Amino acid sequence: MSSILWRSGLWLTLLATWGLAVADPVYITTGQLLDVASGEVKTGQVIVVAGERIDAVGELAIPPDATLIDLSDKFVLPGVMDMHTHVARNLDRTYFSGLFQSPHRGTIGGVVNIERTLLAGFTTIRNVGAYDYQDVALRNAVNAGEIPGPRMAVSGPALGITGGHCDSNALNHAFAQRNQGVADGPWAAREMVRKNVKYGVDLIKFCATGGVFSKGTKLGQRQYTFEEMQAIVDEAHTHGRKVAAHAHGTEGIKFAIRAGVDSVEHASYLDKEAIRLARQHGTALSMDIYNTEYTLSQGVKNGVPEENLNKEREVGSVQRESFRQAVAAGVNVVFGSDAGIYPHGENGKQFARMVRFGMTPLQALQAATIKTAALLDWEDRVGRIQPGLYADIIAVDANPLDDIREMERVTFVMKGGEVYKHE
Ligand code: ARG
Repeated sequence: MSSILWRSGLWLTLLATWGLAVADPVYITTGQLLDVASGEVKTGQVIVVAGERIDAVGELAIPPDATLIDLSDKFVLPGVMDMHTHVARNLDRTYFSGLFQSPHRGTIGGVVNIERTLLAGFTTIRNVGAYDYQDVALRNAVNAGEIPGPRMAVSGPALGITGGHCDSNALNHAFAQRNQGVADGPWAAREMVRKNVKYGVDLIKFCATGGVFSKGTKLGQRQYTFEEMQAIVDEAHTHGRKVAAHAHGTEGIKFAIRAGVDSVEHASYLDKEAIRLARQHGTALSMDIYNTEYTLSQGVKNGVPEENLNKEREVGSVQRESFRQAVAAGVNVVFGSDAGIYPHGENGKQFARMVRFGMTPLQALQAATIKTAALLDWEDRVGRIQPGLYADIIAVDANPLDDIREMERVTFVMKGGEVYKHE
């Protein structure tokens, strides 16, 4: 049968219909091109893109009638990635708007937010926490080519204890307010992991400590027992899902690392032992060190309650100092911004803070490319400009290794071979 297909040429026709391997190659000429792994900046490089993927990179000859994209006056690098976003959010920035607007508005906000994120050069994100699997729907719509957005790894509802940071505690008991991911005890937590897997998540998020933007929780206080954390990690890993743990306080961070999570989010109160454990276990730390500035300058205007502003005042500088120590100790620190706290599309602002608090510009770019690709297990898809990987390519107008703030002004965005922005 297959030989008949081959002979009749039907097979080739099918390939063409599916857009596989036979799409016209696009030649991208670059001014400077960053090899993000080695830090080498090369000039005069040409990238050949065939369909969604990169076909070749080098000093290549360009055929006379080739389709060209001219980035010869730009600095070109792989699309960057943010491991901590909350894209499914009402566009209204006032603190309690989620109580008055439905999750449907949040999904519509998500459509707008993911496009802004993509246009800022973030071609891959993780979404860590959403109602009603809004993030699963957004990811599926992007993957189906229905709406523009980054590649997404999504968690659905975050798991947490009753009354904890991943619950909602604003209203009195008569409202019976409860977040969808609340699960107490190892078996309830396992069931919640299974439910999230059933409805299509890529990873599991849980809250290991209190947080800034929840009512009545303490940053330093652990939530979930060690047994519960182990159950979540075991169940998630059994299903091939990675685990991200929200943790500010030292004990919660250590419990989460020992329980085997793949990344600790925030990681604010690190001590020597926590740093040693993170290194020993290879745990990624995703530390959102930009948004403290946004909250402290815009929080009052946005109606953030005094309780939460006070927690931010407490944690901001401590977290930045922890960041400095983690970087100095060689911990695997990845780019995670908590976009959603501040407006989506401003994710790139965190790069300058990562450099101010101890990274070289190259380290900051690696934290948002090769390190995030490794955390996602997507090294065969994204994170470098290399044959076989998706053509997720961005450009800025000047070398970000000289001024990292260039990353706040991305002027060209290609994802999967498609151009979304070219200024
Ligand atoms: N979602 C986090 C929380 O509510 C945000 C923390 C923001 N502040 C910071 N300094 N990282 O706990």
